[in-house]
Amino acid sequence: MQPLRLLLHRQEIGQRVEALAQCIDADYRGRAPVLLAVLKGAFVFLADLVRHLHLPLEIEFVRLASYGTRTQTSGQVELLLGPRLPLTGRDVIIVEDIIDTGLSVRWLVDYLERQRPATIRVCALLVRSTARSDPALRVDYVGFEIGQGFVVGYGLDMGEKYRSLPDIYVVEGTA
Ligand code: IMP
Ligand code: MG
Repeated sequence: MQPLRLLLHRQEIGQRVEALAQCIDADYRGRAPVLLAVLKGAFVFLADLVRHLHLPLEIEFVRLASYGTRTQTSGQVELLLGPRLPLTGRDVIIVEDIIDTGLSVRWLVDYLERQRPATIRVCALLVRSTARSDPALRVDYVGFEIGQGFVVGYGLDMGEKYRSLPDIYVVEGTA
């Protein structure tokens, strides 16, 4: 088992999630967005985020596969679940744990656009600085910009482990 190094403490994460919720609350005042979370990784982030929001929001899930159980992207995206809620004319906010290459989120935006939602925005807790510099990828709400190294905890896994850790760690030897 590889050792873990603390990257983001739960307190820092909590403060940032609350700040993101304040931005979303202000931007969507008078509207009822659908928060579309990408399973499984975003489940903790979503749960914390929605409890700081005061909007009459709805929640929906999709499950994508792009990773399998290893730490390398397969380069292909597959929709494993949902969405079931009709999204036509809705304000959709995609909630992601981490944007690494940006492949999954680009694929998802493309997929959702076929349902003609009113708006689509992306909210990601973590974004790699390499993806941030990609002009084809627009991330509207970013929790933290991070560098290289595989991260786990706060919903994020490595081979399905570590999702329940309250803080975020870098797996040593992956940077
Ligand atoms: P992307 O398509 O390369 O942006 O990767 C998207 C998905 O891969 C994320 O939503 C995560 O589920 C997973 N992923 C990418 N990097 C990490 C990581 O460092 N830790 C855990 N999961 C990751
Ligand atoms: Mg994910």
